[in-house]
Amino acid sequence: MQKTLQDSPADDGFLSHGPATGGKTLVDRDRVALWWLPMELIGEEDWPRLGSLLSEEERVRSARFHFERDREIYTAAHAACRGLLSYCLGPPPESFRFSVEDHGKPELICPSGEPRFRVNISHTKGCAAVALTQDHDIGVDVEWLQRTAEADALAKRMFADSEYRAVVATSEVEKLDVFLSYWTLKEAYVKAIGKGLSQPLDAFAFDLEETRITFRDHMADDPANWHFERYRLGPKHLMALAVRHPAKERLSVDTRQAPLGYLLDLAGS
Ligand SMILES: CC(C)(COP(=O)(O)OP(=O)(O)OC[C@H]1O[C@@H](n2cnc3c(N)ncnc32)[C@H](O)[C@@H]1OP(=O)(O)O)[C@@H](O)C(=O)NCCC(=O)NCCS
Repeated sequence: MQKTLQDSPADDGFLSHGPATGGKTLVDRDRVALWWLPMELIGEEDWPRLGSLLSEEERVRSARFHFERDREIYTAAHAACRGLLSYCLGPPPESFRFSVEDHGKPELICPSGEPRFRVNISHTKGCAAVALTQDHDIGVDVEWLQRTAEADALAKRMFADSEYRAVVATSEVEKLDVFLSYWTLKEAYVKAIGKGLSQPLDAFAFDLEETRITFRDHMADDPANWHFERYRLGPKHLMALAVRHPAKERLSVDTRQAPLGYLLDLAGS
């Protein structure tokens, strides 16, 4: 089932009690924190402050983007990531360090003997997203709905048969929506397992009704270990989350719009 989110939910999630204090963390093995940050909320004057949340390496990378819109979405995503880490774990944003795995997945470096927190970022035109949990593989994907796509042709080339048939059978009005619903789920999964697009997207298929995965090779992975959520973020974006979790009934996901005021306060003036 797709959840529609306009802004933050009523104050009933674990993130609503304010940032972590006293050495306690807000996420654990059964809690996922998921923020999305719409670019339209960010004013011109906010950019230097958001930029100051980035590491030196990230600032160098952001300065290399040719187009301002690419620099801005990169800055928003990485500021939201460091802000969420700070909010949930306590230490200041600039203190977090990452390593990069074989297929490019950044992993938070956690001191040995301490809990291993896992974070994943996504950015697209107009929106950034970041998801955080402890121990479990996690992936997030956000996509812009107005993106023009050759949905039928791409689905034929990249999706599983059942997904391709569903896309082709959808009316033109709803086609992009259905195509990107599959796409965001599939990207969230390949990002969670860390393989990115080196993982063939037709090796597994989603059922959108149940938000459930099946694998072409039944030995490849176990659907019972995966929890997926999919969201509509206002009129322009779709987002999906993938978490590998052995007991999904225990899992709680707090999804909300990133608190821009908090991020700007973190940066100071
Ligand atoms: C990971 C990948 C699917 C991202 O797709 P995307 O929709 O363009 O990007 P998103 O905005 O959703 O995610 C980008 C973020 O995911 C993270 N990321 C990068 N590689 C990742 C991976 N293998 N797994 C999980 N997350 C990854 C990074 O934080 C990145 O943001 P950053 O570059 O600003 O740090 C894609 O870039 C990829 O597959 N890269 C791996 C390279 C590869 O295997 N290429 C084969 C090409 S056929």
